[in-house]
Amino acid sequence: MRTHTGRGRGAVGTVLAKPGRVNANTLVVGGTGLIGREVVASLYARGVVPRVLTRNPGRAARLLPGAWLIQGDLRARSSIRAALEGVRDVLLALPRGFEETRAAAWLVDACEAAGVRRLVLISSVRPDRGDSRLRQALRGVLGRRAAGRRLEARARQSGIETVILRPANLYQRDELHRVELVEGRYPQPLGARGVNRVDARDVGLAGARALLGDLAPGVYPIVGPQAWTGAECAALWSAALGRRVRYVGDNIETWARRVTARLPDTSVEALRDHYRELQRGGGRVDAEDLRRCAEALGRAPIPYARYVASAAGRWLSRPTPYLASDSSGAWR
Ligand SMILES: NC(=O)c1ccc[n+]([C@@H]2O[C@H](COP(=O)([O-])OP(=O)(O)OC[C@H]3O[C@@H](n4cnc5c(N)ncnc54)[C@H](OP(=O)(O)O)[C@@H]3O)[C@@H](O)[C@H]2O)c1
Repeated sequence: MRTHTGRGRGAVGTVLAKPGRVNANTLVVGGTGLIGREVVASLYARGVVPRVLTRNPGRAARLLPGAWLIQGDLRARSSIRAALEGVRDVLLALPRGFEETRAAAWLVDACEAAGVRRLVLISSVRPDRGDSRLRQALRGVLGRRAAGRRLEARARQSGIETVILRPANLYQRDELHRVELVEGRYPQPLGARGVNRVDARDVGLAGARALLGDLAPGVYPIVGPQAWTGAECAALWSAALGRRVRYVGDNIETWARRVTARLPDTSVEALRDHYRELQRGGGRVDAEDLRRCAEALGRAPIPYARYVASAAGRWLSRPTPYLASDSSGAWR
């Protein structure tokens, strides 16, 4: 076990194992999250160990053995400045909703001041593809259209080379509902219009390629091969689990009540809005998005059916201790 002491205030780092070359020039913010963990795994696969900013190094060390952990909080500017010392390439996989705050824009200022050369932003795919022009215009007037784009705009204005990755809905989002799925219900409120979905490992791969300079600056939708309705997702899980799984996601408020204990409040709030958009307009992508995604990945994206088959296989062979998902009777 090796210990690195950061030069700046608040920087502490412990390397627990040595899966590759430590790259002190690379910082992943949000590296312990659903997407960030896949970015770090893809960097490891290329022999690169990045710095990872986390509020909780103890938990992070369990999630990311071998990472160079920098303790810090996005709300504490001094710890961000310390984490950025000597860093050349930064990936931001910020908590959902944070990208709209002033603090997120300040993060770009801090990167500029620290002399960062390349910035990779994990944004999200436009949720307005299925909307009429009138509805898009109305959303623009009401300010909703800007959601998820303020940080992108600030990064583009900066002098930093910027790669923006816009992932679609992640297959791995289903794991939040593992208990319900095993019980025969699919609750993610995807609606009936069709939503493009992608594997988090593909987002991780694109993130690592962007950080390592394999992608030219620009915007890349990170999307899967096709769009899925809630009912179609349920049907796929039915086949993989060998039992009937019903789609029960149309009521977003029921979904929000049920996941409150599993997600931070800010995520539930942001996701509630996101699902409203998806139920209204869907989330389909076009051929150009698929072409740009293949460019970002250097291969075709992983199909949903492959992810579902492998997750169902894992769950069936290693059942979790039984957790009743519902004592109130909702969703039944
Ligand atoms: N998940 C999806 O389906 C999806 C799809 C498309 C786009 N996106 C976008 O991708 C981004 C990342 O999503 P995700 O699902 O990977 O997020 P997540 O799993 O919720 O992870 C959030 C990350 O943010 C860190 N974090 C939270 N508050 C922090 C704070 N105050 N200071 C420092 N770090 C903090 C957490 O680190 P610690 O707890 O270790 O501090 C964690 O690593 C989001 O902006 C989201 O909009 C997500």
